[in-house]
Amino acid sequence: MKKTFLLASLFLILMVILTLKQGRTPEWSDYQKEYFNEQISELQVQLGAIDNENKKKQVELQIASYQNRKPEIIDLILPNGKVERCKTCHIGIEEISSSHPSNTFGCVVCHGGNPLSLDETTAHAQMYGGSHPGSLNVASLSCGGTGGNGISCHANNQEQAKNEVDLVKTSIMSTKAGELSVVRMMFGLDKTKDVPGLAKGQVASLYPHPLQGQPSERGFKEDCLSQCHQSEGNLPVPQGLTSSNTQQGTAQVKSNGQNGDNDKVQGNGCEACHVLTNPTHTYIGDDTTIKANDIGHGMVHRLTTQIPYTQCNQCHNQGNHDALKMSFSVRSDMAKVVSDWKAGDTTWADRLSDYYLPGEIFARCEVSLDCIDCHTRRDVMGDDKLHTSQYDAVHLQCLDCHGTKERLPLTKKIENLNDLAFEEQITNSQFPALQIGDEIVRTVKDEELPFLRHKGDNWIQSSRITGKTFNVPLVYGSKCEQTLDEQGADSCHKCHDQSAQHP
Ligand code: HEC
Ligand code: HEC
Ligand code: HEC
Ligand code: HEC
Ligand code: HEC
Ligand code: HEC
Ligand code: HEC
Repeated sequence: MKKTFLLASLFLILMVILTLKQGRTPEWSDYQKEYFNEQISELQVQLGAIDNENKKKQVELQIASYQNRKPEIIDLILPNGKVERCKTCHIGIEEISSSHPSNTFGCVVCHGGNPLSLDETTAHAQMYGGSHPGSLNVASLSCGGTGGNGISCHANNQEQAKNEVDLVKTSIMSTKAGELSVVRMMFGLDKTKDVPGLAKGQVASLYPHPLQGQPSERGFKEDCLSQCHQSEGNLPVPQGLTSSNTQQGTAQVKSNGQNGDNDKVQGNGCEACHVLTNPTHTYIGDDTTIKANDIGHGMVHRLTTQIPYTQCNQCHNQGNHDALKMSFSVRSDMAKVVSDWKAGDTTWADRLSDYYLPGEIFARCEVSLDCIDCHTRRDVMGDDKLHTSQYDAVHLQCLDCHGTKERLPLTKKIENLNDLAFEEQITNSQFPALQIGDEIVRTVKDEELPFLRHKGDNWIQSSRITGKTFNVPLVYGSKCEQTLDEQGADSCHKCHDQSAQHP
């Protein structure tokens, strides 16, 4: 009797659980509802600002359509017939870029995962690099993989310049070989820039015994070599951004790693430059699965080649290293730098005060232009060589744009449509129209500066970020007092120094 009762109760409980389970709406429908609601609120805000009746009607219709919309499974059908359902949960995710439209690329080509699953855990199993598919340890599978059409993406191409995945891995920004070499020389361990046994592409923080066991070694590894590089180096995160600290002018940047959550902010390969971030490294887009306070994301799901100086300054111009004490001191004006960054667009005066560390020496153009208006592809994405010094890695020189007392800048006449320069047209909307016969500037090391053109008597540079144009003044024919064989920036800065404006 007791037994039957027990069995009956168990059966009942089981039935209740099963009914509850079936009645519960699937997880994905909640993300969709949240997305519809967010869209409705945004449209309602817009509605308040519209005074044109027709436009008002349109927006009201849009609102109604979201109100009536029922969650449903979203099948993305790719040209090769494969079906992907990631958008069932990630309904609000932005298009990643116009060269990777989601209706031909889908999601899995970059992210991996199981495209048909509607369960978070199984859908995400075997994803490449979690939220960072461009991390260099997985980039060969994602960015360097093979597209649905069988064409290799950013690796395994005949032209070396198109194998960004292999190049970036060897760049000094990914390896930190320069800092390893400089400090070893300072400590008297090596006589030259060569670091014994260091292989091309080897990350310096993994180099065994970088200071051969000296007491500073631990500090050197933890506070220097493992910070601020693109192979998952920790990035400094301005602290207390959301609290009142910033207003009080005491924002701090601390090297992360000491505070659990901050561990997620890293230099992740390709997205370190190509996905723009805000100072809090948080996502502000429309995908409702990504929480607003989850740090370690770009601002929105979008790749860009219009990389402003603030993005480079996630690592550069943040403060000073002291290689004897193995310490890093944050620049004293960080609070202003961060608040300008948060505010977005900056005036010339803001740029001047935020761009470089106080006391740094620079000419006017080093503030007017963004880093990538000057630094070439090989400067930023590597040239497949093992460099152990920044000076060796940099290809660009002042004379590439300004010429010398004896000659004009070098140029190249565009003669056919296969020229690499035309690719900029696809990836950068600020690229000024280019025609066969146009003259672009070419560096002494034979790289193209396609945003700098020679037209008649003028040398005109367009900003890659804003499209703003500048006249490049030439040394040739000017009253410049430079010495012909002293073309390094340090020599020029002796006379061309604007840093008095930013003491
Ligand atoms: C059942 C719903 C669901 C499906 C289906 C789904 N995801 Fe997600 N995804 C989520 C949720 C929820 C998060 C946020 C997880 C978190 O914050 O821990 C997320 C996060 C992510 C992230 C960021 C990872 C991270 O750790 O922050 C990526 C990338 C991602 N999903 C890609 C995909 C891809 C690609 C697919 C299809 C193969 C997919 N997702 C299918 C629900 C889903
Ligand atoms: C061209 C490659 C590419 C494609 C295609 C792509 N993504 Fe991503 N995705 C990325 C990159 C790069 C990031 C890292 C962004 C960052 O640093 O925050 C990312 C990040 C994410 C994240 C984390 C949120 C964020 O922005 O940080 C989610 C979720 C995600 N992707 C979902 C998807 C879904 C769903 C699709 C298909 C509709 C998709 N992705 C298609 C490259 C891609
Ligand atoms: C994730 C951190 C990080 C980001 C982001 C970053 N850099 Fe760097 N960069 C470094 C480090 C670290 C070095 C020096 C490495 C060394 O000396 O060992 C460096 C060196 C350089 C050099 C000198 C060596 C070379 O390769 O030519 C240039 C130029 C440069 N960076 C430009 C840029 C530009 C332009 C951007 C933005 C588009 C940028 N960096 C973004 C970390 C970064
Ligand atoms: C240090 C910053 C930085 C990193 C890291 C970086 N890129 Fe770039 N990338 C740039 C800049 C700047 C440009 C535009 C330069 C140009 O075309 O001259 C660019 C352009 C590109 C282009 C467009 C080429 C064109 O002709 O317009 C592709 C494709 C590309 N990068 C892929 C990658 C991939 C893949 C990775 C990761 C393996 C990566 N990048 C990492 C800075 C970076
Ligand atoms: C007006 C052009 C220009 C701009 C803008 C510019 N650079 Fe440079 N940069 C150069 C030139 C030219 C050199 C090589 C200097 C030499 O001759 O020694 C250089 C050298 C460097 C070096 C090598 C080490 C050193 O300090 O000399 C690094 C690192 C660097 N730049 C990073 C950056 C970053 C990051 C930005 C943006 C925040 C930037 N540059 C903006 C032209 C520029
Ligand atoms: C990519 C091309 C480019 C490179 C490389 C470059 N410049 Fe310039 N330079 C310009 C442009 C554009 C202007 C005009 C800027 C403006 O109007 O604000 C300019 C203006 C100048 C001027 C006149 C303005 C002034 O400061 O009074 C000087 C001097 C100068 N640059 C020095 C340098 C030095 C030194 C270097 C190397 C560190 C350098 N430039 C590298 C493009 C370049
Ligand atoms: C000994 C001082 C001195 C040195 C070193 C020097 N310059 Fe000059 N430069 C001048 C003077 C003086 C002028 C004329 C300024 C004027 O006309 O107002 C000038 C003019 C220029 C101009 C034209 C500016 C304009 O507005 O027309 C450029 C560009 C320039 N220099 C670049 C350089 C570069 C690049 C270097 C390093 C390779 C360099 N200069 C080294 C003193 C110097």
